[in-house]
Amino acid sequence: MIESTWISSLTCVVTCCLGSRFVNYVCDHVYLGLSPFFTSLSTLPCHVQVTELYCSVCECAVCEDCVAGGHGEHPNVPLSQALAQHRSALQERLGTVQNRLPQISDALTFVKEILQQLTNQRASIEEDIQSSFEDLHKQLDVRKSVLLMELEVTYGLKQKVLQAQVESLLRGQGEMTASCSQTEEALGEEACAANLQAERDLGERLGELASYGLPCQPEENDQLDLLMETDGLRKSIHNLGTIVTTSAVASQSEAMGAGLEQCVVGHPASVTIVTRDKAGGACKSGNAILSAEVFTPDGSIVDGEIVDHKNGTYEFVYIVPKEGDFSLALRLYDQHIKGSPFKLTVTRVSETEVERRGKSPGQKKKGSKRTSSALGTPRRKTQNPIEDDLIFRIGTKGRNKGEFTNLQGVAASSTGRILIADSNNQCVQIFSNEGEFKSRFGVRGRSPGQLQRPTGVAVHPSGDIIIADYDNKWVSIFSCEGKFKAKLGSGRLMGPKGVSVDQNGHVIVVDNKACTVFIFQPTGKLITKFGSRGNGDKQFAGPHFAAVNNNNEIIVTDFHNHSVKVFTPEGELVLKFGSNGEGNGQFNAPTGVAVDVNGNIIVADWGNSRIQVFDGSGSFLSYINTSADPLYGPQGLALTSDGHVVVADSGNHCFKVYRYLQ
Ligand SMILES: *[C@@H]1O[C@H](CO)[C@@H](O)[C@H](O)[C@H]1NC(C)=O
Ligand SMILES: *[C@@H]1O[C@H](CO)[C@@H](O)[C@H](O)[C@H]1NC(C)=O
Ligand SMILES: *[C@@H]1O[C@H](CO)[C@@H](O)[C@H](O)[C@H]1NC(C)=O
Repeated sequence: MIESTWISSLTCVVTCCLGSRFVNYVCDHVYLGLSPFFTSLSTLPCHVQVTELYCSVCECAVCEDCVAGGHGEHPNVPLSQALAQHRSALQERLGTVQNRLPQISDALTFVKEILQQLTNQRASIEEDIQSSFEDLHKQLDVRKSVLLMELEVTYGLKQKVLQAQVESLLRGQGEMTASCSQTEEALGEEACAANLQAERDLGERLGELASYGLPCQPEENDQLDLLMETDGLRKSIHNLGTIVTTSAVASQSEAMGAGLEQCVVGHPASVTIVTRDKAGGACKSGNAILSAEVFTPDGSIVDGEIVDHKNGTYEFVYIVPKEGDFSLALRLYDQHIKGSPFKLTVTRVSETEVERRGKSPGQKKKGSKRTSSALGTPRRKTQNPIEDDLIFRIGTKGRNKGEFTNLQGVAASSTGRILIADSNNQCVQIFSNEGEFKSRFGVRGRSPGQLQRPTGVAVHPSGDIIIADYDNKWVSIFSCEGKFKAKLGSGRLMGPKGVSVDQNGHVIVVDNKACTVFIFQPTGKLITKFGSRGNGDKQFAGPHFAAVNNNNEIIVTDFHNHSVKVFTPEGELVLKFGSNGEGNGQFNAPTGVAVDVNGNIIVADWGNSRIQVFDGSGSFLSYINTSADPLYGPQGLALTSDGHVVVADSGNHCFKVYRYLQ
């Protein structure tokens, strides 16, 4: 048995009894030297002095003796209270770390997913490289065979001529040699009258042979050369294909610019995005995958474009058609960049500012319409005087049949069908002219015709349905029953938004990203293309949709230039109308366009949320009266076979059918 006094004189250690179990406490400054001793001590029955206090300075348990000793000056608290505090502090730390675990597990899942996608992507690109090169090999082999065959044929023809000449010369030579030796033989004999006749014959034969026409000049030449210019090709092969990527990460990439916080209704706003790598270094090359979305709690309707400056910076230019509080989400490789989503306040231009700009506020009124007398055609009385020009509207926001999420392009068939490109639902929905749902196709699945983001739709005279798929970067062709048939423009198109069909059955594709109009055969063969980014005659600042008139001219809306441009099928500009504003004939980002049988051009004015009608020369005629049930960011527009205008009222997630010019 150890005397407690002995213990306490030796140490500041105290053993506390808790039932029959021992718990040891020790002052820090002696614990190290005594720890072996305490291992055995803890097994001893309890008899040392019980600690009841805690020294807050030394952070250890103390007994009365300790307090009397070295800890006398130190503040102390009851041990039980200190113990409880320690426990709760420990518990808290445990909790903090445990709370991190789900985060880490999420991060792990996410990073693994990215790794998996990277691996998948590698496999798929590898396949692409293999198949592209196999294809090239095949093409080279075909060319090789063609050349070898051409060589064979050319050689054969020439060889035949020369061979024939050789044979004919040999024949002549043989005959001559024979006649000569016969004659020599005859001359070797005694001349006699009996041989006179024979010799005369020989003489005649020799006479013939002397002037006998033989082909002594070569009738062919020996030229067979190979001209093969391979330098250009070698150079092309040397630079063939590029692996495109960046080291940009969302968490380091930033956005800046006035458009990040606020903008004015109907006026373009811009945001600059700077991509950075994991260490915060600026990326110097383009091609990163960025997306931008401006939205309200009830959905996204704002349209804009991301321009890749190819130097690691990008610009997002957008226009909001309505005032209010919006969110602006900027994502890099599907993840929010630093600070995203941003809060965006959209305001109207103040009255004073409108006055300063010299505009009368009255011009802002939407749906105001020329009086019928001004149009020269008497306006037919509508049955219900309370209604505007709306005949009916179909759809609400949703994913089901007859519901839409961000509908874009619209087409109408000669067989009385209305087709809607339902971009976020990744399908095309078909309705009757009366608005009755008929069918839909392209809905998520693993089929080869899976649509990613259908934005444009057109009906080919053959009945086929042509769909511009913005995210797949190609145009898909489906049968009228919705069966996938083919795709065109793959590898060429960057962001096809609208499609149309001309009078020759050619497919007109508006590539919004490339600022180019492509014209394809339905087989996929490119006929021509025109346009580049800019504000010049043959340029676009952001083309969206196209229509074709009776002269087979192509009418294109230029969203960011606020104009409508008309081109010949060869791509020469013949007419341009519209400027930025809210007056008659002005636009705030035009989108959908259609032409009627009289050549009138109907244009959806996205930012002004209205529909304007122009004559074929671009003179403003009228608005469609949409005042009772206003539009909200209209997109695609078409003329139905029964002469009405159908428009995708994108922000209201429905389509509307209107009468016009009545
Ligand atoms: C990137 O290019 C844009 C447009 O050409 C230019 O305005 C910008 O200053 C460039 N930024 C950098 C970092 O080079
Ligand atoms: C548009 O329709 C409304 C009825 O909804 C009517 O009150 C208004 O006068 C119409 N506007 C024009 C310019 O015809
Ligand atoms: C539209 O393009 C014209 C040239 O065709 C140019 O003068 C004008 O500034 C452009 N407008 C806008 C808003 O970019």
